[in-house]
Amino acid sequence: MKTLNTQVAIIGAGPSGLLLGQLLHNAGIDTLILERQSPDYVLGRIRAGVLEQGMVELLRQAGVGQRMDAEGLVHGGFELALAGRQVHIDLQALTGGKTVMVYGQTEVTRDLMAARQVAGAQTIYQADNVVPHGMKTDEVFVTFEKDGEQYRLDCDYIAGCDGFHGVARQSIPVECLKVFERVYPFGWLGILADTPPVHDELVYARHARGFALCSMRSATRTRYYLQVPADEIVEDWSDQRFWDELKSRLPQALADNLVTGPSIEKSIAPLRSFVVEPMQYGRMFLVGDAAHIVPPTGAKGLNLAASDVSTLFNILLKVYREGRVDLLEKYSEICLRRVWKAERFSWWMTSMLHRFDEHDAFSQRIAESELDYFVDSEAGRKTIAENYVGLPYEAIE
Ligand code: APR
Ligand code: PHB
Repeated sequence: MKTLNTQVAIIGAGPSGLLLGQLLHNAGIDTLILERQSPDYVLGRIRAGVLEQGMVELLRQAGVGQRMDAEGLVHGGFELALAGRQVHIDLQALTGGKTVMVYGQTEVTRDLMAARQVAGAQTIYQADNVVPHGMKTDEVFVTFEKDGEQYRLDCDYIAGCDGFHGVARQSIPVECLKVFERVYPFGWLGILADTPPVHDELVYARHARGFALCSMRSATRTRYYLQVPADEIVEDWSDQRFWDELKSRLPQALADNLVTGPSIEKSIAPLRSFVVEPMQYGRMFLVGDAAHIVPPTGAKGLNLAASDVSTLFNILLKVYREGRVDLLEKYSEICLRRVWKAERFSWWMTSMLHRFDEHDAFSQRIAESELDYFVDSEAGRKTIAENYVGLPYEAIE
């Protein structure tokens, strides 16, 4: 067995692991990232695309904001299309000037990978059988295999940035964790196409046939979604069927404006709310999707990963620089306060905008009326806007 060592062992090279790694590296704290897949595989995943201001600032702080600032699209609002009318949510006016940045997670990941390479910090891709050990002891280490050889990585702390299906959460004894979960009876069918966006802002549409979302990656690339039943299979959706269904769920003026084209990618994602408490076990910390999942309606998944990263980074900085080991046990409670607020908002946006077949007529009218109330009231629109641009990060003191 070969032995390696580092200060912080990071499992997973998604946005959580790479961003944490970059911030720690810049602060002179040594990290080693272990990733199960290859870089191309990681970059091949099409994920979210809306960054809160807090995440934008964190990326700049990490020194990886250059391309985002040049190519990302700053959005000062979004559109809600509700039976027969459109409501503009003016994020900037409602939040005292805050905006969001439309920039794909794939691009964030690409920028972080490049920065890590320039920094000369080590990532071991295609690492098999990654297993964390000794998290409740002073002898913390991670074992793994690479090219058939066995390795042991000694470290001070482990960051479990390995997503929902990762090993970090699964290596915590089940009796030490409490799981909160809701699975929705539908999924999102998404397509990526090289077509100009139907509108200059994102459009979230509630419709009797189901929810639809018009998003984008750039001025020439669109990302559109349709609510579909959970058991739907992607092969049943030709491009033509997708475009026809999308048009049927959009207000006429937008449908008339929709430019269609061949899809570059098409996939179905289930919708789930999931939180595990606590987000730590001894010297191992769960970050991002490893600890929580939100349905994508509020665009919060990637942003929550970033706020966890910020919290863990600021705690570790104070631990290494000022010996503040007392802060370590606060990680989970600090993260969870923000996580639950984003869980609530994501659940609410999902509940308001989707069609729930199992709801009786009364429940459907209540949901419609609730959203009507929110959008017709300045206080309601403010509530939507302040959550959408992102709640503040808690200071670490
Ligand atoms: N060993 C090593 N790496 C692993 C293991 C394992 N056992 N299991 C998973 N991984 C890797 C995955 O291959 C992936 O690259 O961990 C990474 C986790 O990345 P993501 O799933 O992208 O999770 P995260 O970095 O927390 O990103 C935040 O929030 O809502 C979402 O779309 C958003 O994916 C984004 C996520
Ligand atoms: C996306 O562009 O993929 C996207 C945008 C907003 C959401 C969800 C996904 O709420």
